[in-house]
Amino acid sequence: MKLIINEREYEVSDENPARVLLWVLRDELGLVGTRFGCGAGLCGACTVHVNGVATRACISPVSMMEGARIRTVEGLARTGPDGKPVLHPVQRAFLDVQVPQCGWCMSGQMMTAAALLEQNPSPTPQQVVDAMSHNYCRCGTYCRIKKAVLSAADKLAQETKP
Ligand code: FES
Ligand code: FES
Repeated sequence: MKLIINEREYEVSDENPARVLLWVLRDELGLVGTRFGCGAGLCGACTVHVNGVATRACISPVSMMEGARIRTVEGLARTGPDGKPVLHPVQRAFLDVQVPQCGWCMSGQMMTAAALLEQNPSPTPQQVVDAMSHNYCRCGTYCRIKKAVLSAADKLAQETKP
């Protein structure tokens, strides 16, 4: 079975198509930026994008992913003209605001935030709270997450200014 992840093709085994995307990413492909939290679709630690939509990899059977465009946190940065990685505005904002504490939930938080800004580049503070409210952070960084997502929206607006 072919998977398209971060614009690259991967061949994975057809055996046990019910196994979930999270373990294929982490254990089979070494893309360990996507985290395991609850394994039940509740905490958001395993969030990736599937065709641009924030999706919980821990409950998504790999058989449903063939042909889909999957993006993980490893694919959030882009390659600049000098070949070096250029962090996504969400990643820069999370660093600027110093959001991460233990860091466990952070890739899921950033993937949810990036999906939100792709769908709604200028969210209101309440829209940020609503979009992020199903991603849990056991370190309680919620105020900083909100600040960082709004700051990422500002960065995006500045970068796309004509
Ligand atoms: S590990 Fe997937 S939602 Fe918690
Ligand atoms: S930073 Fe520790 S769980 Fe969110």
